[in-house]
Amino acid sequence: MNTKKYYITTPLYYVNDKPHLGHAYTTLAADVLARHLRSKDIPVLLQTGTDEHGSNIEKIAREKGVAPKAWCDGVSADFRELWKTLNIKYDYFIRTTDPAHEAGVQAVFEKLLKTGDIYLGSYEGLYCSSCEAFYDETELKGKNCPVHGRPVERVSEETYFFKLSKYEAALLEHYAKHPDFLSPRYRAQEIVNFVKSGLKDISVSRTKVAWGVPVKSNPRHTVYVWFDALLNYATGRGYNPDGNSPDFADAWPADVHLVGKEIFRFHGVIWPAMLLALGVALPRKVYAHGWWTVNGDKMSKSKGNFIKAEDVVREFGVDALRYFVFREVTFGQDGDFSMDAFRRRYNADLANDLGNLFSRLMNMAAKYLDHRLPEKPGESEIFRELSSWTPEIHRSVEALRFSDALEKIWQGVSRLNRLVDARKPWELAKTDPETLKLFLHEMVWCLRLIAGWLDPFMPDTASRMHMQLGVGRTSDGTPPQKVPPLFPRMQPENKPNDIRTN
Ligand code: MSP
Repeated sequence: MNTKKYYITTPLYYVNDKPHLGHAYTTLAADVLARHLRSKDIPVLLQTGTDEHGSNIEKIAREKGVAPKAWCDGVSADFRELWKTLNIKYDYFIRTTDPAHEAGVQAVFEKLLKTGDIYLGSYEGLYCSSCEAFYDETELKGKNCPVHGRPVERVSEETYFFKLSKYEAALLEHYAKHPDFLSPRYRAQEIVNFVKSGLKDISVSRTKVAWGVPVKSNPRHTVYVWFDALLNYATGRGYNPDGNSPDFADAWPADVHLVGKEIFRFHGVIWPAMLLALGVALPRKVYAHGWWTVNGDKMSKSKGNFIKAEDVVREFGVDALRYFVFREVTFGQDGDFSMDAFRRRYNADLANDLGNLFSRLMNMAAKYLDHRLPEKPGESEIFRELSSWTPEIHRSVEALRFSDALEKIWQGVSRLNRLVDARKPWELAKTDPETLKLFLHEMVWCLRLIAGWLDPFMPDTASRMHMQLGVGRTSDGTPPQKVPPLFPRMQPENKPNDIRTN
């Protein structure tokens, strides 16, 4: 029997800082996709977790005066807490300090030493300690790291190398044969060009970093954090070259690795080369999304402009945030977060378009529907037409075109609003109560459809709507009730920076 599950991963988040909107974004995307697939009865595995080794974490723990593991325990728990707040349902949370993962990393290292894909040498290069990565002179911005803008250091050390260069041709062949492997396509070319320009072997161990997985046969070295962390996608499912757990076959190959654009190269080049070296099948897709800025600026510690998802949730509710991030920006592109834009969408799309429609109709249903909600969909044209949109909405979610899906759903919401305005049910109440009933029946069914579409994006809202629409209740119908607004209107304040941390 085929028990292969649809396996979705997020990157493992560094625990050197508290979680912010950028981290929440990747995980929310994974959750939307997972919820959608589960609703179609497709078995899903969603794995997320924390990346806990390396010099940055060692350093922050020292600054805070705690042991590295104790520090990791704290921040890793913060991430799990945030996933709870954001209503993210994951199947497995992996930490790179988990003993099974560490054992897997060590076994992989020894295996590749044996095959000759890892060898000992010495390295001199330009290193950014924030990225934990080496850069070529040509990649720098002036003399600084292209990601952090901070000076890089010239470092020389004995190190193990991974023979990345050996996999250049195999990678190019894989990209050519699997055009969706690097997604979205407009981001793929940069990777292809990078590989075509010639791959160099990469350093995969450190002698100066104590907080890492020790190389078993030479514990003066610890494994480079990226080599360690990338392996999570496989070790978390029970992969170990000395003997896999039977669960591995249920998950592998991964269906999609969701990542931010700045770590696309690690996932599109180094990770598949590691798998080729191990003789393990490559994931089906690596999808890179864009970056959020805040009021036009990069989120950064020094600017103190990190958006904390919890703060947004406290003021607007979790579903407003889930809606905004996927509606405002095409998944894949960069986007800007501002409280003005957030409030605008909240009031226009959620409080007005959806919220008002829902409460107007439900309040009328409570008043005029003889205390019963309809059990069978009528033959109404509007219900038939909206139902025919379902495959397109599903396709958009499956292709990670989240904003397209939401746009279409809101087209549906607008259609219903226009219909209510045109049919004037409040007048029908006086002139033609039978027609009013039929109309409200149609509308209840259309709202059930909309609630179903919204479910992966806004699970709380969808379940409130479903409850009030009597979905999943007994077959003898449900008395409609008056409902409180789904999204209470917010005052359009002009305080663009009011939600931030320092
Ligand atoms: N630990 C590595 C990943 C290892 S995966 C084997 C890492 N961690 S991270 O915490 O720095 O970033 C994790 C994710 O958060 C990335 O997908 C990244 O793109 C995302 N974001 C961090 N800041 C972001 C924004 N400002 N905007 C959107 N996403 C960004 O990299």
